[in-house]
Amino acid sequence: MLPLRTGIKPPDGISLYMPAYLKEMGALACKVVTVYKDNPAKYNLPTTIGKVLLQDINTGDVICIMDGGYLTAVRTGAASGVATKYLAREDKNQVAGIFGAGVQAKMQLWAVATARDIGKAIVYDISDEAMSKFISEMSSKLNIGIVKAKSAEEVLQADIICTASSSASPLFDGKLVKDGTHINGIGSHSPGARELDTEIIKRSLFIGDSREACFSEAGDIMIPLKEGAIKEYHFYAELGEIITGKKKGRVNKAAITLFKSNGLAIQDVATAKIVFEKAVAKGIGTKVEI
Ligand SMILES: NC(=O)c1ccc[n+]([C@@H]2O[C@H](COP(=O)([O-])OP(=O)(O)OC[C@H]3O[C@@H](n4cnc5c(N)ncnc54)[C@H](O)[C@@H]3O)[C@@H](O)[C@H]2O)c1
Repeated sequence: MLPLRTGIKPPDGISLYMPAYLKEMGALACKVVTVYKDNPAKYNLPTTIGKVLLQDINTGDVICIMDGGYLTAVRTGAASGVATKYLAREDKNQVAGIFGAGVQAKMQLWAVATARDIGKAIVYDISDEAMSKFISEMSSKLNIGIVKAKSAEEVLQADIICTASSSASPLFDGKLVKDGTHINGIGSHSPGARELDTEIIKRSLFIGDSREACFSEAGDIMIPLKEGAIKEYHFYAELGEIITGKKKGRVNKAAITLFKSNGLAIQDVATAKIVFEKAVAKGIGTKVEI
């Protein structure tokens, strides 16, 4: 069961409440996650902070409280990795282009480099410091060359692009994206915000993590729809429909494929259950009475 998440908008950020129940895994949990863009500069805290409350499915009692920040980044990366596996061209020595050089961006590059043969990566962020940190951490971790882009346009030479910024407005001109590109759009997830412009949405085969989430939360598709630039049927498939073979993914080398990720509670709950079981097996964690 996956109800749509509930959001509250305090003055400086957004707070999201994301419950789910996975019957087959026996997993029940709720993640509380906040996105506060100014946290890094103002408080030296991450933009995205989360905690997961994992529950006993028999009693409903909360059995574990765990950090949800790293977990969020990992599961968001994993979803883009799966999308890349099913939708990107399969050529060798591809170029990855990353918008944003923050927490999510690192996992995005890691996932793309796991799914495809990546020879080089290009990163673009409005913060030069963030780009330098990204390059020093990720080039040694993944053993690939990563260069800074001087402009957003420079990233568009990439074969696989991830948009993982905190920007609420389009990052690049969609007309300039080359044929055959695959894009993972993970950053924005509210109706009034978008990283992708109308042009790139129109040019792409649009795949979302969830149809319902895309039409309730993703400005990337909701804004072009409101403008009348696309119709609802432009939403081609959920990623699950591609994975299970209900719908075809990439149809030819020239197609631009686009995976829009809003982030789903089922991803958090499944991950949290695995983390909990592994921690218990290894004796990791602290028992507390509340
Ligand atoms: N789809 C999902 O499941 C999911 C999960 C977690 C976070 N997010 C979203 O991902 C985004 C990034 O989160 P984060 O935790 O990595 O934040 P972060 O603050 O660590 O990184 C964001 C980076 O984007 C950069 N940026 C802002 N505007 C830019 C622009 N115009 N061009 C290039 N770079 C720009 C910032 O300088 C910053 O370095 C947020 O919008 C967050 O809501 C989505």
